[in-house]
Amino acid sequence: MKQINPSDLTRKRYDRLAFIYDLFEYPMEWLRFASWRAVLMNKVKGRQVLEVGVGTGKNLPHYPRDIKVIAIALSPRMLEKAKKRALGLYFNVELLEMDAQYLAFPDDHFDTVFATFVFCSVPDPVLGLRELRRVCKPGGRLLLLEHMRPGNPLLGFIFDILNPMVVRMMGANINRRTLENVLKAGWRIKEEALLSSDIVKLIHA
Ligand SMILES: C[S@@+](CC[C@H](N)C(=O)[O-])C[C@H]1O[C@@H](n2cnc3c(N)ncnc32)[C@H](O)[C@@H]1O
Repeated sequence: MKQINPSDLTRKRYDRLAFIYDLFEYPMEWLRFASWRAVLMNKVKGRQVLEVGVGTGKNLPHYPRDIKVIAIALSPRMLEKAKKRALGLYFNVELLEMDAQYLAFPDDHFDTVFATFVFCSVPDPVLGLRELRRVCKPGGRLLLLEHMRPGNPLLGFIFDILNPMVVRMMGANINRRTLENVLKAGWRIKEEALLSSDIVKLIHA
């Protein structure tokens, strides 16, 4: 039987979702996500920023205007949406199709590496987070907003049961241990903030 490459599967899932993604997320974006994005954005440091898994470009309007942002995505359809969103924003942003697990950038290149709700869907999150560390300058920052497996054992078990269905529908794993993955990839945690119980976290590493 033909093996499907996990990145191809993720790409297909997000290509399929691209047309409805913003509409589907609108209530959460309005209620919580937009304010969380702003909090994370305030921590961006330096002039060279990499955004991973840019999606439809929801973070783009929030960047300071005097920096250079390179934003990558796996899904071409999501990227098209991000390109449209970037058109009206007059700042230095480049949008590229690329896999976070295999970045085409030199070592020690970016001051800040930024991602929101991405490492729930990167097929091998530790590999991706290691790549981010490789391209981040020494002393640079990793800024993440991520949902993850709850610490409560019963809730964690329920998330494990529901996970395969959610992955099929939305492409996202709801039971990833992202904080542990960040540590496994060699990052040092500087700040960890709980945004919605212990399920959504801001991570500064
Ligand atoms: C849930 S969406 C989040 C989009 C956006 N960051 C946001 O906050 O709205 C997850 C995004 O991660 C991207 N993604 C998943 N795996 C990836 C990978 N290996 N490399 C790059 N992007 C990836 C998907 O294409 C999708 O756009």
